[in-house]
Amino acid sequence: MIQVEDLHKSFDGHVVLDGISFEIGKGQVVALIGGSGGGKSVLLKHLAGLMKPDKGRVIIDGADLKTLRGGQLRALRDRLGFLFQGGALFDSLTVYENVAFPLREKTKMKEREIREKVLKELELVGLKGAEDKYPSQISGGMVKRAALARALVRDPEIMLFDEPTTGLDPVIGQAILELIDACHKRISFTGIVVTHEIPRIFSYVDRVLMIYEGKLRVNATPQELMRSEDPVVKSFLGY
Ligand SMILES: Nc1ncnc2c1ncn2[C@@H]1O[C@H](COP(=O)(O)OP(=O)(O)O)[C@@H](O)[C@H]1O
Ligand SMILES: [Mg+2]
Repeated sequence: MIQVEDLHKSFDGHVVLDGISFEIGKGQVVALIGGSGGGKSVLLKHLAGLMKPDKGRVIIDGADLKTLRGGQLRALRDRLGFLFQGGALFDSLTVYENVAFPLREKTKMKEREIREKVLKELELVGLKGAEDKYPSQISGGMVKRAALARALVRDPEIMLFDEPTTGLDPVIGQAILELIDACHKRISFTGIVVTHEIPRIFSYVDRVLMIYEGKLRVNATPQELMRSEDPVVKSFLGY
């Protein structure tokens, strides 16, 4: 479903991705880990077609993103949900309006259908009753839940989560991970979760990818990773 082939990306001579290759099968969820500033967000942006590789390819369902033009690229993006790092909502819109936004922008759904879908999605993320609140009136955990509802409201086939729990207290972080897992069970997207939740994330994912010095240092199951003798991996995991 997702294939990344020999991806390279530099900014002003600073090499961020230095030949990354991997595949993710349909319906699989992987964790993407690595040090801060290591290129995890940059990699996700390539998968979403928001950044172009200097070299190499991103192939989704057999289509090389590079060859997709306007309408085709938009069609692909419509199948994709992105929870951005920071998970920001539009501050001037209520929770309801935030979640309705992608449906208004991207679909021809009638107002009644939008209302039904948005309220259902908010209920699924535990935000029933908060629909008329503005982002400044709710907690950080609730903002994340609302951002999650917004990313999921169009039932995406591919979901990219960039640090969905960073900045949340551990209990709320756990609840967000469980929510992501429950959403996956419901709509079985293909997903990537960028996270520092180690080892907690391991029980939710099929594989773990680790970026180190621009290269993919690890592409393994959580079990394999935890048995790894690679000194870089061991020091990163803190074993
Ligand atoms: N649009 C950009 N222009 C220039 N440098 C960038 C841009 N986006 C990211 N970078 C740089 O790329 C590196 C990797 O960033 P990022 O992918 O955000 O790391 P992380 O693994 O923490 O998500 C950083 O050094 C960052 O400063
Ligand atoms: Mg990042």
